[in-house]
Amino acid sequence: MAETAEAFISATSRGCKLRCVACASEFERAEQDFRCVHCGELLEVFYPSWKTGDSKRAGELRELWLERRKSFHALDQSGVWRFRDLLPAMQDWRNVITLREGNTPIFELPRCAKGAGLRRLTAKHQGMNPTGSFKDTGMTAAISVAREEKFRWVACASTGNTSASMAAYAAQAGLQSLVLIPDGKISWGKLSQALDYGALTCQLRTDFDGCLRLLREVIRRLPVYLLNSVNPYRLEGQKTAAFELLEQLEWQVPDHIIVPGGNLGNSSALGKALVEMRDLGLISRLPKLSVIQAEGANPLVRTVRETGGKSLVTMKPDTMASAIQIGNPASWRKALRVLDVTGGAVEQVTEAEIALAKAEIGSDGIGCEPASAVTLAGLKKLVRQKFVAPEESVVLILTGHVLKDPEYTLKFHRGDLFTGTLYEQETGIFKGHRREPLILDADPDAVVRALEQAEKSSAH
Ligand code: F0G
Repeated sequence: MAETAEAFISATSRGCKLRCVACASEFERAEQDFRCVHCGELLEVFYPSWKTGDSKRAGELRELWLERRKSFHALDQSGVWRFRDLLPAMQDWRNVITLREGNTPIFELPRCAKGAGLRRLTAKHQGMNPTGSFKDTGMTAAISVAREEKFRWVACASTGNTSASMAAYAAQAGLQSLVLIPDGKISWGKLSQALDYGALTCQLRTDFDGCLRLLREVIRRLPVYLLNSVNPYRLEGQKTAAFELLEQLEWQVPDHIIVPGGNLGNSSALGKALVEMRDLGLISRLPKLSVIQAEGANPLVRTVRETGGKSLVTMKPDTMASAIQIGNPASWRKALRVLDVTGGAVEQVTEAEIALAKAEIGSDGIGCEPASAVTLAGLKKLVRQKFVAPEESVVLILTGHVLKDPEYTLKFHRGDLFTGTLYEQETGIFKGHRREPLILDADPDAVVRALEQAEKSSAH
């Protein structure tokens, strides 16, 4: 690695500290549960040595990050560690575990734009990470710390993606991993990943919130490193998606960024990055960051609407977008702060709206998992409410790959996704979006007839 790059790291990122988001107590180190010893709230990383508004340094950072793209060094090839100047420094950079995460593309969604009534719409696809979700960007940061701090076991409660990601990075790091997942409530794709990467996988008869509660008890008894998004080092890794996005946009700030909300770590991380970029002079203004939840798992929406953000409204969550089936989100305070500082909206969408949005994202040749599709469904609502104007620039953050939950996709196209559920009545809106597979005789005439039929209907 270049001498200059190392010098930069020590000048900008050494000496990060932790601060409680509620009582602002500061700490050099965290307890094993990453909570404030005074008030029990979550901690965040901050960097006392950073100088704000230094435009010369902002320019140097931009140059340095671009320069690293030419390098074959593992740290430079990672879309997370390429931005290491704004991350907690490692004591020994050789302890970094990277699967070359990040580096995710921005795609055009022309059909979705038209459907939403916008001139143009883009998506940053975090599902293009090594294990198929945005979790990898946080996992590389937190697992590297776990390794440096000499833990043997790492653990998480998960709706699926965190467990898949943690298991992969733990395997690479030579660590043991413990996964707690709600029995029957995560997609097979994600469960199979955790198994394949060698995690000790426990399916508990509870929901995600129950798994997380139980895990807090386990870490009180055993020296296990907690890798849920309450771990502030994970969020530091996740925030790099916003650095990368702005770099890809040549530092032109979009008007809106829209993310799904579950445990609310990701919205918190991206918002933190936006504020940091503004403070460091990398961008001149903040985009509005809006958070979308499923109607059946909407604690943040209810917290804002029913208490004005004063206290968390918890609930028993129910949505087919299983990744965000969460009723007691850990990072609610951090997410509220992001909504507040960026002026973003919080909205909810129905199961049918999610399914339709997912099919629309698919029809642009992109695809995503159901939880990611809440972004498009929410955007359509925000356009109708005139919160988003047709000529404004919007980036959806797609959080998971389309192959994470193929069962949902197949059921949608076969027409039985909502059979026997409360949402059966709403499936009228899917007309023209479902594409059932045809079962035909092995006869070229049959295939030619099918093609001609399809051509006729697409002409209408
Ligand atoms: N989208 C996907 C695909 C997810 O897997 C998650 C969360 C979210 C959105 C919500 O992000 O929790 O940061 O607000 N999945 C976690 C898991 C909870 O265990 O994989 P969040």
